[in-house]
Order: sequence, then structure tokens, then C-alpha cells
Amino acid sequence: MKRPARVLILTGAGVSAESGVPTFRDVDGLWEGHRVEDVATPSAWVRDSETVWRFYTLRRRALLSVEPNAAHRAIARLQAEGPPSLLVSQNVDDLHQRAGSEAVLSMHGQLRSLRCEASGRCEDRMADEDLDEHRFVWCSCCATASRMRPDIVWFGEMPMGMATIAGWIDALREGDLCLVVGTSGHVHPAAGIAQQARRSGATTALVNLDAPLNVDDFDEVHLGPAGSVLPMLVDGWLQAWSDEGASV
Ligand code: OAD
Repeated sequence: MKRPARVLILTGAGVSAESGVPTFRDVDGLWEGHRVEDVATPSAWVRDSETVWRFYTLRRRALLSVEPNAAHRAIARLQAEGPPSLLVSQNVDDLHQRAGSEAVLSMHGQLRSLRCEASGRCEDRMADEDLDEHRFVWCSCCATASRMRPDIVWFGEMPMGMATIAGWIDALREGDLCLVVGTSGHVHPAAGIAQQARRSGATTALVNLDAPLNVDDFDEVHLGPAGSVLPMLVDGWLQAWSDEGASV
């Protein structure tokens, strides 16, 4: 593959699986043990905030015991040493950021932060007292502190950064690269990004454990664990692009 002018990267739960963060739809995935309607919708928060709070607080606390893996590091390296890029992640963990990726758009929100129910402002809240599953957290932005909700995009809500993502897809041209890692292709709009990128002219490459729903949208399909497949793929690309530069 020739050196692209831009790289658009999309990741899903599979990129964090080897760090010990459960995926959603695999055996033992998060949605096996929970009904989405009970924990991941605005109406669940209104109906039973305690259950929703507990579900997300346990996941927030779990962030403290996981580390980025070789796949996160390979993506950070691609971004640091390759062409200009945007990393769009459906993941709400912070492992891309901790691996050194700078341009990360977390389209489904972030576990680290909480959002004031009154003002909509977000605060990074990971102190011990913010991680009690039996006690709500109150904001520091309102005159009388308001309750905070998880800073997560729930089903029925608009993903974050859609205008930025659309701008990047529109700007892709022939020879650019759209790399998708660790996502089952079930949830739109993320699941449509590869198809749109391909329509803009980009080459689409997939790294996933098994074939996702939208496997036909990819020019290159690399099946296997991202922690082993991706570092080799990224090394190969970076090497080829640097050889290309040397021979010009
Ligand atoms: P899924 O659980 O639907 O899919 C994870 C994908 O990762 C599957 O295709 C697995 O085969 C693959 N996978 C698992 N382990 C892997 C590994 N080690 N290396 C590579 N691939 C691996 O998760 P997502 O597609 O991310 O949204 O789910 C999308 C959205 O659905 C989530 O962001 C979440 C969920 O409902 C919200 O909560 C809003």
C-alpha cells in the first residue's frame, strides 16, 4: 500500500479485549448479563438511576486495573509516525489515550468523566469518592450542586463528534486509508463508516477476531487477535512508507 495522505481509524471493544475489558456481544460480553434497556438508555436513568449508576461505576472502577495492550500501542505508533490521522473510538475506556494516541474522538463518551445533569458540563471524576456505586456524584459547576450522570452516549442519543467524523470521511481521497479494528459492525452510525470511507475513495482495512456483519465493506481483511495482528501490520506499513520516501 502506498503512503496515504490521511488515515481514519475506527476502533471497537475488540481492541481492548486483550487488556481484559469485556466486549459487548461476545460470549461473556457485557450485553450477555444485562438488558440494554435496563442500563444504557435515558429512560433507564430516569426509571432506575441506582441500577444504571452501579453498572457504570463498576466499569469506571475497572479502568483502574487495566492497561493498554499491543494493539493500542500499534495504533498510537501509526498516528505518531504515519500520515495525519483521526482515531474514532466507540470505546468508553481511556486505553487509547494512555497508550499515547493524541487525536482520539470518543464517539460514545468516556467512563472517566461525568456529566452535570443541569448544565451538561463534563468533569474528569476518578477520585475514590467518585467511584462509590452506592453514592451519586454532584457537580462543581452549578451554584447548587446538581447530580451527575455517566458521560456515556446511551441508545437513542446522538453519538459525539459526528460533524468532525463526517468532515474526515468527506476529505478522504483515493489512496487514503480507513483502518477498522475490533468491532462487530452492529451499531450505526459507526458501522457505516467503512462503507462511506470506501465511497470517498479510501482503501478499507479490517483487523478483527472474526468476520463482522459489514465484512464486505473491506478491501483488506486480517482476521486474528488485534494484539498480534496489528503491530505486524503497522510495522509493515510504516516500513513500506519510509522505503517509498527513501526511493523518491
Ligand atoms: P462488540 O462486542 O459488538 O464486538 C466486538 C468485536 O471485537 C467482535 O467482532 C469480536 O469478534 C471482536 N474481537 C474480540 N476480541 C478481539 C481481539 N482480541 N482482537 C480483535 N477483535 C476482537 O463491540 P463493538 O462493536 O465495539 O455502544 O460494539 C459497538 C457498540 O455497541 C459499543 O460501543 C456499545 C455497544 O452497545 C454503546 O454502549 C453506546
